[in-house]
Amino acid sequence: MFNLAKLLNKIYSAETPDLKDMEQVLLLTQKGQLDELFSFADNIRKEFCGDGILLRGIIEFSNLCAQECFYCGLNKSNHRLKRYRMTENELIKAVDYLGSCNIKTLVLQSGQEEGLDALWLRDIILKIKSKFNMAITLSVGEKSADEYRLWKQAGADRYLLKIETSDKALYESIHKGMSFARRMACLDDLRGLGYQVGTGNIIGFAGQSLKTVAKDIKFFKHGNFDMLGIGPFIPHQDTRMSQDPKGDAALCLKTIALARIVTKNTHIPATTALGSLDQDYRVEGLKCGANVLMPNFTPQPYRKLYEIYPGKRCVDEPVGNCNFCMDSMAKNIGRFIDYSIGDSLKFRDGSRNKGKPSPLEGTVLL
Ligand code: 5AD
Ligand code: FES
Repeated sequence: MFNLAKLLNKIYSAETPDLKDMEQVLLLTQKGQLDELFSFADNIRKEFCGDGILLRGIIEFSNLCAQECFYCGLNKSNHRLKRYRMTENELIKAVDYLGSCNIKTLVLQSGQEEGLDALWLRDIILKIKSKFNMAITLSVGEKSADEYRLWKQAGADRYLLKIETSDKALYESIHKGMSFARRMACLDDLRGLGYQVGTGNIIGFAGQSLKTVAKDIKFFKHGNFDMLGIGPFIPHQDTRMSQDPKGDAALCLKTIALARIVTKNTHIPATTALGSLDQDYRVEGLKCGANVLMPNFTPQPYRKLYEIYPGKRCVDEPVGNCNFCMDSMAKNIGRFIDYSIGDSLKFRDGSRNKGKPSPLEGTVLL
Protein backbone atom coordinates (compact mmCIF):
# COMPACT_ATOMS: atom_id res chain seq x y z
CA MET A 1 0.00 0.00 0.00
CA PHE A 2 1.09 3.58 -0.69
CA ASN A 3 2.95 4.92 2.33
CA LEU A 4 2.79 8.72 2.36
CA ALA A 5 4.89 9.15 5.52
CA LYS A 6 7.69 7.16 3.90
CA LEU A 7 7.48 9.21 0.70
CA LEU A 8 7.55 12.51 2.61
CA ASN A 9 10.55 11.39 4.66
CA LYS A 10 12.35 10.39 1.48
CA ILE A 11 11.72 13.81 -0.07
CA TYR A 12 12.76 15.52 3.18
CA SER A 13 16.06 13.65 3.39
CA ALA A 14 17.06 13.82 -0.26
CA GLU A 15 19.94 16.08 -1.29
CA THR A 16 18.20 16.40 -4.65
CA PRO A 17 14.50 15.63 -4.42
CA ASP A 18 13.14 13.24 -7.02
CA LEU A 19 10.76 14.86 -9.50
CA LYS A 20 8.48 11.82 -9.67
CA ASP A 21 8.21 11.73 -5.88
CA MET A 22 7.22 15.37 -5.76
CA GLU A 23 4.72 14.93 -8.59
CA GLN A 24 3.10 12.16 -6.61
CA VAL A 25 2.64 14.54 -3.68
CA LEU A 26 1.29 17.29 -5.91
CA LEU A 27 -1.31 14.81 -7.18
CA LEU A 28 -2.79 14.15 -3.73
CA THR A 29 -6.48 14.99 -3.36
CA GLN A 30 -7.76 12.90 -0.43
CA LYS A 31 -8.42 14.97 2.65
CA GLY A 32 -6.62 12.59 5.02
CA GLN A 33 -3.53 12.61 2.83
CA LEU A 34 -3.54 16.38 2.44
CA ASP A 35 -3.82 16.74 6.22
CA GLU A 36 -0.83 14.45 6.61
CA LEU A 37 1.21 16.43 4.08
CA PHE A 38 0.32 19.78 5.62
CA SER A 39 1.06 18.70 9.16
CA PHE A 40 4.39 17.19 8.07
CA ALA A 41 5.32 20.54 6.50
CA ASP A 42 4.00 22.45 9.51
CA ASN A 43 6.28 20.46 11.83
CA ILE A 44 9.28 21.31 9.70
CA ARG A 45 8.29 24.98 9.74
CA LYS A 46 8.09 24.77 13.53
CA GLU A 47 11.44 23.06 13.84
CA PHE A 48 13.35 25.42 11.54
CA CYS A 49 11.48 28.73 11.87
CA GLY A 50 9.58 28.53 15.16
CA ASP A 51 6.06 29.82 15.79
CA GLY A 52 6.72 33.48 15.07
CA ILE A 53 5.20 34.99 11.95
CA LEU A 54 7.47 37.60 10.42
CA LEU A 55 6.02 40.75 8.87
CA ARG A 56 7.23 42.42 5.69
CA GLY A 57 5.52 45.76 5.12
CA ILE A 58 5.19 46.48 1.42
CA ILE A 59 5.05 49.87 -0.26
CA GLU A 60 4.28 49.76 -3.97
CA PHE A 61 5.91 53.03 -4.90
CA SER A 62 5.34 52.95 -8.66
CA ASN A 63 3.17 51.01 -11.10
CA LEU A 64 5.14 52.12 -14.14
CA CYS A 65 6.37 49.16 -16.14
CA ALA A 66 8.27 48.66 -19.36
CA GLN A 67 7.60 44.93 -19.57
CA GLU A 68 4.87 42.86 -20.99
CA CYS A 69 4.32 39.87 -18.72
CA PHE A 70 1.17 38.31 -20.19
CA TYR A 71 -0.42 37.76 -16.77
CA CYS A 72 0.32 41.05 -15.04
CA GLY A 73 -2.09 43.98 -14.90
CA LEU A 74 0.82 46.42 -14.84
CA ASN A 75 1.99 45.31 -18.30
CA LYS A 76 2.94 48.24 -20.51
CA SER A 77 0.16 47.58 -23.03
CA ASN A 78 -2.49 48.16 -20.41
CA HIS A 79 -3.34 51.73 -21.31
CA ARG A 80 -6.40 51.73 -19.10
CA LEU A 81 -4.31 51.84 -15.98
CA LYS A 82 -3.49 55.23 -14.55
CA ARG A 83 0.23 55.24 -13.83
CA TYR A 84 1.96 56.76 -10.82
CA ARG A 85 5.24 57.07 -9.05
CA MET A 86 5.18 58.27 -5.45
CA THR A 87 7.33 61.26 -4.58
CA GLU A 88 10.17 60.95 -2.12
CA ASN A 89 8.12 62.82 0.49
CA GLU A 90 5.12 60.53 0.07
CA LEU A 91 7.36 57.51 0.30
CA ILE A 92 9.18 58.62 3.44
CA LYS A 93 5.84 59.46 5.06
CA ALA A 94 4.58 55.94 4.31
CA VAL A 95 7.82 54.44 5.69
CA ASP A 96 7.39 56.57 8.80
CA TYR A 97 3.97 55.08 9.37
CA LEU A 98 5.23 51.56 8.72
CA GLY A 99 8.01 52.11 11.27
CA SER A 100 5.51 53.39 13.84
CA CYS A 101 3.68 50.05 13.50
CA ASN A 102 6.88 48.39 14.64
CA ILE A 103 7.53 46.71 11.31
CA LYS A 104 11.20 46.07 10.66
CA THR A 105 11.23 44.98 7.04
CA LEU A 106 10.26 47.35 4.29
CA VAL A 107 9.64 45.97 0.82
CA LEU A 108 9.92 48.61 -1.88
CA GLN A 109 8.20 47.32 -4.98
CA SER A 110 7.44 48.73 -8.42
CA GLY A 111 6.89 47.55 -11.96
CA GLN A 112 10.01 47.07 -14.01
CA GLU A 113 10.30 50.75 -14.67
CA GLU A 114 12.64 51.74 -17.47
CA GLY A 115 13.02 55.28 -16.21
CA LEU A 116 13.67 54.40 -12.59
CA ASP A 117 16.43 56.77 -11.51
CA ALA A 118 18.98 54.59 -9.71
CA LEU A 119 20.39 57.58 -7.82
CA TRP A 120 16.92 58.66 -6.70
CA LEU A 121 16.34 55.20 -5.24
CA ARG A 122 19.82 55.14 -3.71
CA ASP A 123 19.15 58.42 -1.89
CA ILE A 124 15.88 57.07 -0.56
CA ILE A 125 17.62 53.93 0.71
CA LEU A 126 20.28 56.06 2.41
CA LYS A 127 17.63 58.23 4.02
CA ILE A 128 15.58 55.30 5.30
CA LYS A 129 18.63 53.49 6.62
CA SER A 130 19.81 56.57 8.52
CA LYS A 131 16.40 57.23 10.03
CA PHE A 132 14.97 53.77 10.80
CA ASN A 133 16.16 50.47 12.14
CA MET A 134 14.75 48.34 9.37
CA ALA A 135 15.80 45.95 6.65
CA ILE A 136 15.09 47.04 3.09
CA THR A 137 13.98 44.56 0.46
CA LEU A 138 13.91 45.82 -3.10
CA SER A 139 11.62 44.39 -5.76
CA VAL A 140 12.03 46.49 -8.87
CA GLY A 141 12.80 43.86 -11.48
CA GLU A 142 15.71 43.13 -13.79
CA LYS A 143 18.37 45.82 -13.51
CA SER A 144 22.09 46.09 -14.26
CA ALA A 145 24.66 44.71 -11.82
CA ASP A 146 25.91 48.29 -11.35
CA GLU A 147 22.50 49.42 -10.17
CA TYR A 148 22.13 46.42 -7.87
CA ARG A 149 25.58 47.26 -6.45
CA LEU A 150 24.75 50.92 -5.95
CA TRP A 151 21.65 50.04 -3.93
CA LYS A 152 23.43 47.34 -1.94
CA GLN A 153 26.18 49.77 -1.01
CA ALA A 154 23.55 52.29 0.07
CA GLY A 155 22.22 49.72 2.53
CA ALA A 156 19.60 47.59 0.75
CA ASP A 157 19.58 44.16 2.37
CA ARG A 158 17.39 41.92 0.28
CA TYR A 159 15.96 41.54 -3.20
CA LEU A 160 12.91 39.78 -4.57
CA LEU A 161 12.97 38.58 -8.15
CA LYS A 162 10.60 35.74 -8.87
CA ILE A 163 11.55 33.29 -11.57
CA GLU A 164 7.74 32.87 -12.01
CA THR A 165 8.41 29.51 -13.71
CA SER A 166 11.67 27.59 -13.99
CA ASP A 167 10.59 26.24 -17.40
CA LYS A 168 12.56 28.27 -19.91
CA ALA A 169 10.18 27.71 -22.82
CA LEU A 170 7.10 28.54 -20.74
CA TYR A 171 8.88 31.55 -19.22
CA GLU A 172 9.75 32.99 -22.60
CA SER A 173 6.30 32.30 -24.02
CA ILE A 174 4.60 34.49 -21.39
CA HIS A 175 7.24 37.20 -20.98
CA LYS A 176 7.36 38.96 -24.33
CA GLY A 177 10.84 40.24 -25.12
CA MET A 178 12.37 38.88 -21.92
CA SER A 179 14.94 36.12 -21.64
CA PHE A 180 15.20 33.36 -19.10
CA ALA A 181 19.00 33.58 -19.18
CA ARG A 182 18.85 37.24 -18.23
CA ARG A 183 16.55 36.46 -15.32
CA MET A 184 19.00 33.85 -14.09
CA ALA A 185 21.92 36.25 -14.57
CA CYS A 186 20.14 38.86 -12.44
CA LEU A 187 19.59 36.30 -9.65
CA ASP A 188 23.27 35.44 -9.91
CA ASP A 189 24.33 39.09 -9.72
CA LEU A 190 22.15 39.70 -6.68
CA ARG A 191 23.56 36.69 -4.90
CA GLY A 192 27.09 37.65 -5.84
CA LEU A 193 26.58 41.11 -4.37
CA GLY A 194 25.59 39.66 -1.01
CA TYR A 195 21.84 40.35 -1.09
CA GLN A 196 19.48 38.00 0.70
CA VAL A 197 17.62 36.78 -2.36
CA GLY A 198 14.02 35.78 -2.75
CA THR A 199 12.48 34.11 -5.74
CA GLY A 200 9.28 32.16 -6.34
CA ASN A 201 6.68 31.05 -8.82
CA ILE A 202 3.08 31.40 -9.90
CA ILE A 203 0.81 28.38 -9.75
CA GLY A 204 -1.72 27.82 -12.51
CA PHE A 205 -0.34 29.06 -15.81
CA ALA A 206 -1.89 27.30 -18.78
CA GLY A 207 0.82 24.96 -20.04
CA GLN A 208 2.27 24.40 -16.57
CA SER A 209 2.20 20.73 -15.57
CA LEU A 210 2.79 19.17 -12.18
CA LYS A 211 6.21 18.22 -13.46
CA THR A 212 6.91 21.90 -14.13
CA VAL A 213 5.91 22.75 -10.57
CA ALA A 214 8.11 19.92 -9.24
CA LYS A 215 10.99 21.37 -11.26
CA ASP A 216 10.35 24.79 -9.73
CA ILE A 217 10.76 23.25 -6.27
CA LYS A 218 13.96 21.54 -7.35
CA PHE A 219 15.19 24.90 -8.62
CA PHE A 220 14.36 26.50 -5.26
CA LYS A 221 16.36 23.83 -3.46
CA HIS A 222 19.32 24.06 -5.79
CA GLY A 223 19.53 27.85 -5.58
CA ASN A 224 19.46 27.84 -1.76
CA PHE A 225 17.31 30.98 -1.80
CA ASP A 226 16.61 32.94 1.36
CA MET A 227 12.94 33.54 0.59
CA LEU A 228 10.28 31.98 -1.65
CA GLY A 229 7.03 33.57 -2.76
CA ILE A 230 4.51 31.06 -4.07
CA GLY A 231 1.11 32.30 -5.19
CA PRO A 232 -1.80 31.36 -7.47
CA PHE A 233 -2.36 32.88 -10.90
CA ILE A 234 -5.31 35.29 -10.89
CA PRO A 235 -6.53 36.40 -14.33
CA HIS A 236 -6.59 40.13 -14.96
CA GLN A 237 -9.14 41.54 -17.43
CA ASP A 238 -6.62 43.79 -19.19
CA THR A 239 -4.04 41.13 -20.01
CA ARG A 240 -3.63 38.46 -22.67
CA MET A 241 -4.42 35.82 -20.07
CA SER A 242 -7.77 37.32 -19.13
CA GLN A 243 -9.67 34.20 -20.21
CA ASP A 244 -7.43 31.66 -18.48
CA PRO A 245 -8.75 29.92 -15.35
CA LYS A 246 -7.32 30.98 -12.02
CA GLY A 247 -4.75 28.88 -10.19
CA ASP A 248 -5.88 26.11 -7.86
CA ALA A 249 -5.60 27.01 -4.16
CA ALA A 250 -5.02 23.37 -3.19
CA LEU A 251 -2.13 23.01 -5.64
CA CYS A 252 -0.68 26.22 -4.31
CA LEU A 253 -0.84 24.94 -0.73
CA LYS A 254 0.73 21.62 -1.73
CA THR A 255 3.55 23.55 -3.42
CA ILE A 256 4.14 25.65 -0.30
CA ALA A 257 4.20 22.47 1.80
CA LEU A 258 6.68 20.78 -0.52
CA ALA A 259 8.86 23.88 -0.73
CA ARG A 260 9.02 23.89 3.07
CA ILE A 261 9.83 20.18 3.26
CA VAL A 262 12.53 20.44 0.60
CA THR A 263 14.14 23.79 1.49
CA LYS A 264 13.56 23.64 5.26
CA ASN A 265 14.68 27.01 6.70
CA THR A 266 13.59 29.39 3.93
CA HIS A 267 11.31 32.34 4.66
CA ILE A 268 8.03 31.60 2.89
CA PRO A 269 5.15 34.10 2.93
CA ALA A 270 1.48 33.29 2.80
CA THR A 271 1.19 35.59 -0.21
CA THR A 272 -1.38 38.27 -0.79
CA ALA A 273 -2.43 36.42 -3.98
CA LEU A 274 -3.23 33.37 -1.84
CA GLY A 275 -5.48 35.64 0.20
CA SER A 276 -7.19 37.01 -2.88
CA LEU A 277 -8.98 33.91 -4.22
CA ASP A 278 -12.62 33.01 -3.42
CA GLN A 279 -11.61 32.98 0.24
CA ASP A 280 -8.55 33.99 2.25
CA TYR A 281 -6.25 30.98 2.08
CA ARG A 282 -3.40 32.70 3.89
CA VAL A 283 -4.28 30.97 7.15
CA GLU A 284 -4.10 27.62 5.34
CA GLY A 285 -0.74 28.71 3.94
CA LEU A 286 0.53 29.47 7.43
CA LYS A 287 -0.60 26.02 8.55
CA CYS A 288 1.26 24.14 5.81
CA GLY A 289 4.70 25.73 5.83
CA ALA A 290 4.51 29.53 5.51
CA ASN A 291 6.04 31.74 8.21
CA VAL A 292 5.72 35.28 6.79
CA LEU A 293 2.91 37.77 6.09
CA MET A 294 3.14 40.89 3.96
CA PRO A 295 0.91 43.73 5.17
CA ASN A 296 0.33 46.48 2.63
CA PHE A 297 1.43 50.02 3.48
CA THR A 298 0.90 51.64 0.10
CA PRO A 299 -1.14 54.79 0.72
CA GLN A 300 -4.25 55.66 -1.26
CA PRO A 301 -4.94 56.64 -3.99
CA TYR A 302 -1.97 54.58 -5.18
CA ARG A 303 -2.89 51.30 -3.58
CA LYS A 304 -5.94 50.91 -5.84
CA LEU A 305 -3.75 51.55 -8.86
CA TYR A 306 -1.26 48.79 -8.13
CA GLU A 307 -3.54 46.23 -9.66
CA ILE A 308 -1.32 43.31 -10.61
CA TYR A 309 -4.42 41.12 -10.51
CA PRO A 310 -8.03 41.97 -9.66
CA GLY A 311 -9.63 41.42 -6.26
CA LYS A 312 -6.32 42.01 -4.51
CA ARG A 313 -6.73 41.74 -0.79
CA CYS A 314 -6.97 44.77 1.46
CA VAL A 315 -7.21 47.32 -1.35
CA ASP A 316 -9.88 49.27 0.52
CA GLU A 317 -8.47 48.67 3.96
CA PRO A 318 -7.20 51.79 5.73
CA VAL A 319 -3.40 51.70 5.95
CA GLY A 320 -2.38 50.02 9.21
CA ASN A 321 -5.49 47.85 9.49
CA CYS A 322 -3.61 44.95 7.97
CA ASN A 323 -1.35 44.93 10.97
CA PHE A 324 -4.23 44.47 13.33
CA CYS A 325 -5.79 41.78 11.14
CA MET A 326 -2.55 39.81 11.00
CA ASP A 327 -2.25 39.81 14.74
CA SER A 328 -5.62 38.14 15.12
CA MET A 329 -4.86 35.73 12.27
CA ALA A 330 -1.75 34.59 14.15
CA LYS A 331 -3.55 34.25 17.48
CA ASN A 332 -6.34 32.20 15.91
CA ILE A 333 -3.87 29.51 14.96
CA GLY A 334 -1.86 29.55 18.17
CA ARG A 335 1.04 31.50 16.72
CA PHE A 336 2.32 35.03 17.29
CA ILE A 337 3.62 37.95 15.30
CA ASP A 338 7.39 38.19 15.50
CA TYR A 339 8.40 41.84 15.23
CA SER A 340 12.10 41.14 14.74
CA ILE A 341 13.99 42.03 11.59
CA GLY A 342 13.83 38.46 10.33
CA ASP A 343 17.07 38.06 8.42
CA SER A 344 17.74 34.97 6.38
CA LEU A 345 18.00 31.76 8.40
CA LYS A 346 20.63 30.54 5.96
CA PHE A 347 23.26 32.65 7.73
CA ARG A 348 22.78 30.64 10.87
CA ASP A 349 23.14 27.25 9.27
CA GLY A 350 26.36 28.35 7.55
CA SER A 351 25.04 27.62 4.07
CA ARG A 352 25.26 31.33 3.24
CA ASN A 353 27.84 33.79 4.41
CA LYS A 354 26.88 37.31 5.40
CA GLY A 355 29.00 39.80 3.49
CA LYS A 356 30.71 37.08 1.53
CA PRO A 357 29.21 36.57 -1.88
CA SER A 358 28.31 33.02 -2.78
CA PRO A 359 27.09 33.02 -6.35
CA LEU A 360 24.42 30.64 -7.52
CA GLU A 361 27.27 28.39 -8.47
CA GLY A 362 26.29 25.35 -10.40
CA THR A 363 22.63 26.28 -10.54
CA VAL A 364 21.43 24.21 -13.40
CA LEU A 365 18.91 25.35 -15.96
CA LEU A 366 16.40 22.60 -15.61
N1 5AD B 1 -1.69 36.56 -10.71
C1 5AD B 1 -0.90 36.20 -9.67
N2 5AD B 1 0.29 36.76 -9.40
C2 5AD B 1 0.71 37.73 -10.25
N3 5AD B 1 1.84 38.45 -10.26
C3 5AD B 1 1.79 39.29 -11.32
N4 5AD B 1 0.64 39.11 -11.99
C4 5AD B 1 -0.05 38.14 -11.34
C5 5AD B 1 -1.30 37.51 -11.58
N5 5AD B 1 -2.09 37.84 -12.60
C6 5AD B 1 2.91 38.31 -9.26
C7 5AD B 1 4.24 38.00 -9.91
C8 5AD B 1 5.13 39.12 -9.49
C9 5AD B 1 4.47 39.61 -8.23
C10 5AD B 1 4.79 41.01 -7.85
O1 5AD B 1 3.10 39.50 -8.53
O2 5AD B 1 4.74 36.78 -9.37
O3 5AD B 1 6.46 38.72 -9.27
FE1 FES C 1 5.56 44.53 -15.08
FE2 FES C 1 5.41 42.07 -15.20
S1 FES C 1 4.17 43.46 -16.29
S2 FES C 1 6.93 43.13 -14.23
